[in-house]
Amino acid sequence: MPKEIILIAAVTIDGFIARHNKEVISWSLDLPLFKKQTIGHSIIMGSNTRKVISKELSGRKNIVVTRKDDPVLVLNNVITNRCFIIGGGITYSRFSPFITHMYVTPHPFIFGKGIRLFENFTKEINLQFKKIITVDESKGIHQYQYKVEKV
Ligand SMILES: NC(=O)c1ccc[n+]([C@@H]2O[C@H](COP(=O)([O-])OP(=O)(O)OC[C@H]3O[C@@H](n4cnc5c(N)ncnc54)[C@H](OP(=O)(O)O)[C@@H]3O)[C@@H](O)[C@H]2O)c1
Repeated sequence: MPKEIILIAAVTIDGFIARHNKEVISWSLDLPLFKKQTIGHSIIMGSNTRKVISKELSGRKNIVVTRKDDPVLVLNNVITNRCFIIGGGITYSRFSPFITHMYVTPHPFIFGKGIRLFENFTKEINLQFKKIITVDESKGIHQYQYKVEKV
């Protein structure tokens, strides 16, 4: 299993990651940061997200999961020390028991409905704040980095 399993997401203020499961996320301003952070590592995504992005993300080992995949087996087959869970909401939930870090970038929107960060959440997670990275100072957009606390 990789040493670092990092959930990375752009979220609205009310905790949504998309308006619906086919939405292309054009409102996120942290794509250059996402690219910089994930390049050279493995990225794990659900089949819905794979359809939305339409092509492989270059410079990264792209791993696409379906409901048939066991998260433990998927993670045990990752050969890089660091891997990113890049979405969507069902996939974040399924891998949530294994994440070691979260990189979350809140954006100034309220969707009210849509795809939640965790679509099928089961267990509470406590986070320890680590770092803020500024994405766009004038728009107040920052990425918050947390370590998952072991319970
Ligand atoms: N804001 C962000 O940072 C961000 C990041 C990534 C994605 N997104 C957005 O999130 C949306 C997609 O999210 P999503 O949650 O719909 O999809 P997803 O996590 O990308 O993919 C859905 C996954 O869940 C599986 N699944 C479907 N129904 C299931 C069930 N009943 N039980 C177990 N597994 C099941 C699917 O497998 P099968 O193939 O077998 O059905 C697939 O692996 C898109 O709009 C995308 O643009 C946003």
